[in-house]
Amino acid sequence: MTVHSPPTASDAVRLEWLRRVEAEYRSAAFTQHLTLWLIQIGAPPDLISDGLRIVADEMAHSELSHSVHVAADGRGTPTLHREALALRRGAGSIEQDVLRVAVDMFCLGETVAVRLFSRMREGCSVPEPRQALDRILKDEVVHRDFGWTLLEWLLSTPAESELRALLDRELPGMLARLRASYAGTRPLSPAESPGEFPSSDRAWGLIPRASYVEAVVETFARDYAPRFADLGVHCRELEARG
Ligand SMILES: [Fe+2]
Ligand SMILES: [Fe+2]
Repeated sequence: MTVHSPPTASDAVRLEWLRRVEAEYRSAAFTQHLTLWLIQIGAPPDLISDGLRIVADEMAHSELSHSVHVAADGRGTPTLHREALALRRGAGSIEQDVLRVAVDMFCLGETVAVRLFSRMREGCSVPEPRQALDRILKDEVVHRDFGWTLLEWLLSTPAESELRALLDRELPGMLARLRASYAGTRPLSPAESPGEFPSSDRAWGLIPRASYVEAVVETFARDYAPRFADLGVHCRELEARG
């Protein structure tokens, strides 16, 4: 039997998995903080225990991402900005802040994450990143659903009209920021065509920028537009782009 050794990991692979460690710490911290707010506003116990479970998932993702970084011969230490690892209260009610985080981080962020991670997993053949992506993808589906359940609950509380007004004002900006951060605003250059992307980076769970753009377009059309419409939330940004 021929045993194939995994392709050599590039600096891009080591850097990307270290950045993922940092991102998972951020997700854990924000979810922990959000869950405290859920306790303070007397949210249903199921939502609170789901929040706590997500914190544990994010820490497991962080550990897995770190083992991929090490398997790729990385020796880096994640950079954690302490003051940035907490949520900040706005001037309005806690419910308003819960809505912002539920929509921005979960309904938008975790929903696009499912489509991104499934693309990363598709081309990933090295065992360590593949195991990490198997677990991450499975959990992100649960985290995405938590966001939509939380939003649905918020819109069923006495704060509904205040929260719908806030969504009218802030959802377009959140969508625009998400689009810019994942897909960028400039067109793809020829060097960014998927064919130019190193297959060894793909094997380690990285994807070309074109795949990020594609995942964002798909998420707007197949997730955001129908899911917000189901909740009676309408937004030009979604309807115009379909
Ligand atoms: Fe995660
Ligand atoms: Fe997550």
